[in-house]
Amino acid sequence: MRRMGVVTSGGDAPGMNAAIRAVVRTGLSHGCEVFGVRRGYAGLIEGEFIRLQARDVGGIIQQGGTVLGSARCPEFKSAEGRERALNALREREVEGLVVVGGDGSQTGSHLLSQAGFPVVGVASTIDNDLCGTEMSIGVDTALNVALEAIDRLKVTASSHRRAFLVEVMGRDCGYIALMTGIAGGAEVIILPEVEADPEEVARDVRAAYERGKAHAIVVVAEGARFNAQGLASYFREHHERLGFELRATVLGHVQRGGAPGAFDRLLATRLAVAATEHLLGGERGVLMGLREGRVAATPLAEVAGRTKPIDLSLLKTAQVLAE
Ligand code: ADP
Ligand code: F6P
Repeated sequence: MRRMGVVTSGGDAPGMNAAIRAVVRTGLSHGCEVFGVRRGYAGLIEGEFIRLQARDVGGIIQQGGTVLGSARCPEFKSAEGRERALNALREREVEGLVVVGGDGSQTGSHLLSQAGFPVVGVASTIDNDLCGTEMSIGVDTALNVALEAIDRLKVTASSHRRAFLVEVMGRDCGYIALMTGIAGGAEVIILPEVEADPEEVARDVRAAYERGKAHAIVVVAEGARFNAQGLASYFREHHERLGFELRATVLGHVQRGGAPGAFDRLLATRLAVAATEHLLGGERGVLMGLREGRVAATPLAEVAGRTKPIDLSLLKTAQVLAE
């Protein structure tokens, strides 16, 4: 392969830049020209390629986001959109692509691969809902951002004996909420995977005060039926009967920004080096992820269109430890 490309797609994740850097320098070390694709699949469709040299990716390993840009691109879901992308790749004589992204992006990369184009994926999403990997790029940094927020909220909550509701990201997956709740010592954790009853939440918060706690922290996933908005308005409505308020903080995109920590820089580097070597070595149609702590390839066919379930037994553990 003489020319290869790298694209970052879907939600940006801290560590994507470390992946870009690793693809570029590994590709160059094999004598290959490397092109960065701007703006995810949207830029791929429009043929927005830039040739990258080793110096072009200097000083980015410590930066959050993606220097190439990313996008949500509905057009890529259509066969016509993907055909335009394939034409742009052919025009530039780019013979293979590393796709850094989450489950939607890897569903797209699988379709490119099925169309006969050489693709290797790199697992990247803060949601950690991608199959074929224990951890995706960005998860660890996003968890640390959420934890810092919870630690701070606990300080003010304890000073006033208040209850706080903290909404974290994750789309339809409760991974970030569950792990943040456990590591942050939350009293209650609400996930999309388990239906929650606001009256039960109220009982759990009251029980925490009765056990002598100075605060109560409820971590809720954005995808839960009763998310921060739903619960806050329920508690406002029933404030007098329930006897306390629940103040809401929505962390939102704050969790996605920021500099990648050591874990994400190293994970991104390891996965991207392996992805480039697989692509140049002739193995295609796979996702590079972490399995049993090692970098491993999983066929994109086993990843596309699926989401990884969370370990719900940990919810019970969290309840025991919130005692
Ligand atoms: P992530 O990759 O972080 O999960 P998205 O789900 O938004 O983010 O997917 C990123 C992009 O991947 C989408 O904007 C779209 O271009 C492409 N994509 C998502 N789902 C599909 C699909 N079913 N078929 C083809 N392309 C898809
Ligand atoms: O997939 C990553 C993620 O941050 C989800 O947790 C969240 O639901 C979504 O992206 C937000 O997407 P956008 O940045 O397009 O609003």
